[in-house]
Amino acid sequence: MKLGVNIDHIATLREARQESFPNPVAVAKEAIAGGAEGIVCHLREDRRHIQDDDVIRLRRLPTRLDLEMAATEEMLRIALKIKPDMVTLVPEKRQEITTEGGLNLNPKSEKLNPKQIRNSKLGKIINKLQDKGIIVSLFIDPDHKQVEAAAVLTADFIELHTGRYARASYIKGKTLTVKKELEKVGVAAQQARLIGLRVNAGHGLDYHNVKAIAAIPGMEELNIGFSIIARSLFVGIKKAVAEMKEAVQ
Ligand code: PXP
Repeated sequence: MKLGVNIDHIATLREARQESFPNPVAVAKEAIAGGAEGIVCHLREDRRHIQDDDVIRLRRLPTRLDLEMAATEEMLRIALKIKPDMVTLVPEKRQEITTEGGLNLNPKSEKLNPKQIRNSKLGKIINKLQDKGIIVSLFIDPDHKQVEAAAVLTADFIELHTGRYARASYIKGKTLTVKKELEKVGVAAQQARLIGLRVNAGHGLDYHNVKAIAAIPGMEELNIGFSIIARSLFVGIKKAVAEMKEAVQ
């Protein structure tokens, strides 16, 4: 199981004081030393944490860079210029604290309409990224219609949103909900693999709830930020990443 470490929260801390530190690039280097196979960052439209220059510097590191971004013309331009190894397309709302849900890949119709989906703005953005050799992943909820639409869009990967599962796992006595949400992720992963999509997952994963997600067959990479950064306050980034690597094996 590969681990992608999301370093947005380091930039959030820096921006809270509008200072030049802590430096997400330096932290990314420590994460790589701790065993991270990739670095993930989200360049938001409002630039509330990661800045354009961070992405340029992160790209120069000898590691795989996964750029999370909204499917907009501005972000497309930036991605085509910086050429990360992977782009993960996510929905973005100005007011949200973090990415709250997956993309809705088939918004207009209840019935799957492949032609409409492929010709959508999203479909065109995916094609332009892939034409430049960038691997495209779509962040979606574990829902069979979304998985199907991701395949129609010829995405390379989907990233299954584990937020609902994770939230339930934080609350005592929610065992049934945890089981149900975990099952949804497992079923979606299986469906995706059967139709030729590769599968990652992320959101809300911590040192405990990650194990069941890591055990899902075919899961390739888990993208984790908050719990690792929180743990690093006690043990440092390198060890916090190494501990997560151990947890996902
Ligand atoms: N994957 C995606 C697409 C995300 O938007 C986020 C949050 O930035 C994560 C993974 C990581 O979530 P967390 O910080 O809760 O581990």
